[in-house]
Amino acid sequence: MTGSRSPSFAALIETLRGHHQAMLAGGGAALVARHRARGKIPVRDRIDLLLDPGSPFLELSPLAAHGLYGGDVMSAGIVTGIGLVQDTPCMVIANDATVKGGSFFAETVKKHLRAQEIAGEHRLPCLYLVDCGGAFLPEQDRVFPDRDHFGGSFYNQCRLSAAGIPQISAVFGGCTAGGAYIPALSDEVVMVRGTGRIHLGGPPIVKAAINEIVEGEVLGGADMHTTVSGVSDHVAADETEAIGRLREIVRGFGDLRRIAPPPFAPAPPAADPAELTDIVPTDLKKPYDVRQVIARMVDASAFQEFKPAYGASLVCGFARIHGHPVGILANNGVLFSESSVKGAHFIELCDQRHIPLLFLQNITGFMVGTEAERAGIAKHSAKLVYAVSNARVPKYTVIVGGSYGAGNYGMCGRGFRPRFLFAWPNARIATMSPEVAATVVTELRRQSLKGAADEEAIAALDRKTRAQFEEQSDPYFATARLWDDGIIEPAQTRDVLGLCLALAAGEPRDPAPRPVYRM
Ligand code: COA
Repeated sequence: MTGSRSPSFAALIETLRGHHQAMLAGGGAALVARHRARGKIPVRDRIDLLLDPGSPFLELSPLAAHGLYGGDVMSAGIVTGIGLVQDTPCMVIANDATVKGGSFFAETVKKHLRAQEIAGEHRLPCLYLVDCGGAFLPEQDRVFPDRDHFGGSFYNQCRLSAAGIPQISAVFGGCTAGGAYIPALSDEVVMVRGTGRIHLGGPPIVKAAINEIVEGEVLGGADMHTTVSGVSDHVAADETEAIGRLREIVRGFGDLRRIAPPPFAPAPPAADPAELTDIVPTDLKKPYDVRQVIARMVDASAFQEFKPAYGASLVCGFARIHGHPVGILANNGVLFSESSVKGAHFIELCDQRHIPLLFLQNITGFMVGTEAERAGIAKHSAKLVYAVSNARVPKYTVIVGGSYGAGNYGMCGRGFRPRFLFAWPNARIATMSPEVAATVVTELRRQSLKGAADEEAIAALDRKTRAQFEEQSDPYFATARLWDDGIIEPAQTRDVLGLCLALAAGEPRDPAPRPVYRM
């Protein structure tokens, strides 16, 4: 993103809203009409009926698969998110049958696994709204065989259930092969008469395998499964009744997990969060004071800064969000040795005090150069990475600008397992910026050609590298591949984080001692 070409933040938000609006179309008007004509309810309306009236719904990765497969696989054909059912926070995992019969692409699998991971970390019951044609067969090599492919979701289902986290399915449509295993591995199953089907092999597979010709309803309908096979536990006359039954099942859970109230009274920020888009430049090269961002995110804009006069390029301090204490680490420039060890020290303080960590990433990386290397930037930056990796408190990351190089690691990028990771629409994530990448790649080529460089070929390589890095560091490229849990607007960030913090509040604390090593 260069200064002269930087769009306004308002334009970025308009684009984001446009993408979110477009994704609501699912498989398109004609397929949604066909779905309704069959007496079926669109996936997001099913979720609305399932959740308590007025419940928030934290939808995850709504733009998964954005721009992939010719733009035909909206939201990767699955809606996942957290909402309240009978006042109990639940993970909803719901197939969109209007998108290629709800079949699984690589991003569908990733989204499904991610939802289960979040459910496991927070002990959220999983409610599966199943309408799924199994693996999307043309993509089977990217969906079926590997560890974190479709099989992993069934492994998770078994493990979550065994860990005491309820796994409940309502079956709305034709569930074949992998689609059949979602209900088959659930603790309790509801099926809709007439449209719900469960079969390991559907009629075409049965015909191909054993030359038996059979009707879908006979093979795997709701009545057969609730009266003959016992695969299903309840039959419902229609979808609304099935959703009502699902809600009754949740009410019957013995030990309802409620959201713990915040330990302190929440207070709105004194500075208006709506001003964030005026404060943060969309040109990543333009500096600003990240304290201005923190002030618009935290309760009463109150921020108790730690070591303000040392390692100033990493701002650290304590605050509250919606009444929940949080330790914030926010970039205010490149990470030096001092800022790295300060960050490691601060993380250990929060770990000792059981205070969740919030990372606000806007980082080009750690300092490079002879002076920095001689001062030990490699080992000092590693201390930050080590502390991030071993912190036992919940961690949350928001990419509010650039997320480049090892700075991504030290600031709790995806590899460091934050409970949630969101990005703003101005975010950029890559090993390095397009300008730096082009310089590095062309320099490497020059060196390997040993003086015989063809300047035209080098210039072409420069253009190609820039274009590659521009495309691949775009936030929509990232969110399509589930490198984050979604792109959010700056003004929404505080509320989204408040929900995330509330989910983890009241978790039992690890009683092991937590030393603070002053770095
Ligand atoms: N793989 C590839 N494509 C699939 C698919 C799958 N598993 N399941 C559905 N599709 C495609 C269909 O080919 C169709 O594509 P098109 O619009 O480009 O023609 C689209 O998804 C919608 O399918 P359609 O059959 O029209 O929808 P439906 O609502 O009438 O039926 C299913 C949905 C899931 C019951 C039905 O598509 C089906 O039985 N699919 C195959 C299931 C299967 O054998 N899975 C085995 C996986 S290992």
